[in-house]
Amino acid sequence: MKPTSLSHFALLSVVLATYWVGCSTLEESGPSRPVLPETAPEYRTEVAQIFDVVFPTPQEDPLFNQKAQLGRVLFHDRMLSQNGAVSCNSCHLQSHGFAEPKALSSGLRKELTERNASHLANPAQQSAYFWDGRANNLSEQVTMPIENHVEMGFQELSSLVLRMNDLDYYPPLFEAAFGTSDIDVNNIQKALAAFLSSMVTCHSKADEAAAEAMPHFWDPWGVVAGDITLDGLDALEREGFELFHGEAQCANCHGGPHFNGWGLDFADIGLEGASSNSSGTDAGIQGGFIGGWGPTAMKVPSLRNVALTAPYMHDGRFATLDDVLDHYSHGIQDVATLDHRLRDWSFNATGGFPGNIFVEDPLIFPGFSQGQAPPVRMNFSPEERTALKAFLNSLTDYSFIQDERFSNPFTRP
Ligand code: HEC
Ligand code: HEC
Repeated sequence: MKPTSLSHFALLSVVLATYWVGCSTLEESGPSRPVLPETAPEYRTEVAQIFDVVFPTPQEDPLFNQKAQLGRVLFHDRMLSQNGAVSCNSCHLQSHGFAEPKALSSGLRKELTERNASHLANPAQQSAYFWDGRANNLSEQVTMPIENHVEMGFQELSSLVLRMNDLDYYPPLFEAAFGTSDIDVNNIQKALAAFLSSMVTCHSKADEAAAEAMPHFWDPWGVVAGDITLDGLDALEREGFELFHGEAQCANCHGGPHFNGWGLDFADIGLEGASSNSSGTDAGIQGGFIGGWGPTAMKVPSLRNVALTAPYMHDGRFATLDDVLDHYSHGIQDVATLDHRLRDWSFNATGGFPGNIFVEDPLIFPGFSQGQAPPVRMNFSPEERTALKAFLNSLTDYSFIQDERFSNPFTRP
């Protein structure tokens, strides 16, 4: 784990540009209406119990539930796109762990997004958002898709506010959440951020097994395999768990409670044709997150609910987990920007010190060369592959994808 990877949330910062006012035409004949429980349900409890020690969330807010409930409506409301064609939910589907089963998603005018739609698993407990980490906090992130010209196309959020004032279900929801029926961008951000931060998923089979093995430990996934025996998993899943945290070295990057390097880690994993900026392919974190990572690195995605979130990688290039395992098994490309953790340091003793990956990292210590160490070749046996897949499949939280609090409240989808 990198020393910076435990950083907590950055301070809330909201930047409002001056927006250009245009007019909008609605594709739909009229808005559908949300049907909500009379009293907002409890949206906070699990955040506090499970992960709050590391990642504080705004628990004290007495109106948090009302804010999250408003956020639920906003998340599913197609009126948040300029022509009424898409909602957040169009690209982040609950049944797919809030991902979309397409390599790229189509936005309000059927144009494709540049990258695969991220899935949403414990979004409050990430320290950087998007594949290139260009947003550092949820409040900042949530309105970016609304403004994005491909995704939802409200280049000026002030006209979204005008639109919402005309939808009679919003003023009472804002009144309940903020004590005022005045709608403003700041409160839209707060409500969406509250909803997203309530999206806690921690009830997969693997979670239950870990909680059983270590009932008093707040983070069962912070320990290395070998320290605990997960009796709640079957033999194959357990073998996969051991491999994942051991020989296969997945946890070097997909470590921590969300299997994503504690929500702030990036890597270039040597995908074919993806690591070169000159060929016009995705430039990764370049121009985005500033840290000790190379310009072609992508955010390490959480593997929670991974069985539901295909296709995989920032460009959705892999349709199945088998394709992903093929890559790690023998497909990693020897590009100059390949992450040190995917090089085989044992190959040439002069190339580095095996097992001491940070010392020879040229990104951290310029002067060391990664050149002598080739990409790792895991060459998984069929048994290892089956075991790894069994473990990855045990990370699915079925209660999360069925939880009504996150579902679409609109009468017409
Ligand atoms: C047209 C499809 C589309 C729509 C609509 C959309 N998104 Fe996304 N979302 C994406 C794509 C694609 C990405 C990854 C973009 C990138 O990394 O550059 C993404 C990434 C995200 C992330 C980052 C997750 C992470 O862990 O890094 C969050 C959070 C998110 N979207 C929330 C929302 C919210 C909230 C809305 C509605 C206001 C929304 N999205 C609307 C396609 C969409
Ligand atoms: C060097 C860090 C690193 C290691 C080691 C690593 N991964 Fe990854 N993994 C990543 C990054 C970064 C991505 C996203 C890459 C991209 O899209 O460009 C990723 C993507 C994935 C995805 C796709 C998830 C999604 O939502 O698209 C899966 C599945 C996955 N890794 C599983 C594994 C397994 C299994 C192992 C061990 C065999 C492993 N990873 C080892 C960094 C790593």
